[in-house]
Amino acid sequence: MNNEYLSTGFPDVDRAQNQDAYFDCLTLLDSLEYYREYKTKSYELLQLSPGIRVLEAGCGLGDDAFRIAQRIMPGGKVIGLDASAAMIEKARLSELAAQLPVQFQQGDVKALPFPDNSFARCRIDRVLQHIPQPQKAISELVRVLKPDGLLLAYDNDWETFSVASDDINISHIIENLWSGSFTNSRIGRDLGDYFLYAGLSDVRIYPGTSVITDLATADKVYNLRETVQKAVEGKRISAAQGNLWIEELIDRTAKGSFMAALTAYTVVGRKRSANLRAPR
Ligand SMILES: C[S@@+](CC[C@H](N)C(=O)[O-])C[C@H]1O[C@@H](n2cnc3c(N)ncnc32)[C@H](O)[C@@H]1O
Repeated sequence: MNNEYLSTGFPDVDRAQNQDAYFDCLTLLDSLEYYREYKTKSYELLQLSPGIRVLEAGCGLGDDAFRIAQRIMPGGKVIGLDASAAMIEKARLSELAAQLPVQFQQGDVKALPFPDNSFARCRIDRVLQHIPQPQKAISELVRVLKPDGLLLAYDNDWETFSVASDDINISHIIENLWSGSFTNSRIGRDLGDYFLYAGLSDVRIYPGTSVITDLATADKVYNLRETVQKAVEGKRISAAQGNLWIEELIDRTAKGSFMAALTAYTVVGRKRSANLRAPR
């Protein structure tokens, strides 16, 4: 078990003791078919074309920035921004960083170091779930977007997180403990509303549900065993109940009936020529 809890550690990876846990989590997720599919669809929804400037906010290891860069050549540029110096260093060390029109820099999406109207497209993927005041980040992204430009956000709705088990009560306790540990566990379902409030037009929402079918993968990205331990320490369940639950998940993996599911949303909106905020 690693000594980091992913849901609470991602807001400040630079303070983590075991940064590899965060790098490994992103690499593993990026390799899964569901993730590849929604990411590819997001580049299509962004209507990328040669010559444009794109901001990838909260770029992590830079995988999306690299794939977007291949779609805006020749003449375009992708800026990958992340709060974590360690993430930015890893992204810069990739061979692709030297081959593609990408630039990585450290920064906070809530205070973007760019002038107004700088980018034709902005994209933010599983970052807003970690940020207090996500609407501030969205308003910053809209500020740096050019009129008529597109903003795309993808994020999770952790209140849909479910782990199949015969013991529904234990599953509910573990699901709620994990989902409640995120800064914004409901951000996925709020994105459309936040986009409208930020003044974006043509807002479209695309749901997607990921399904992980083995305990080992689910544990690496959802910290299931560690959440069981927290539930035991918090006296929400007994150690015996926790062990039985994990044993059932091992058994289900062997039988092919393990399932951890999560719904997330891709939301796209266009900046108007004169940006008007929706009344509150
Ligand atoms: C779950 S990861 C997602 C990374 C990447 N978007 C992807 O799809 O693989 C969240 C990322 O957001 C970054 N982050 C967290 N808070 C941030 C902030 N305020 N500004 C910019 N990046 C932030 C983290 O350092 C981390 O790299």
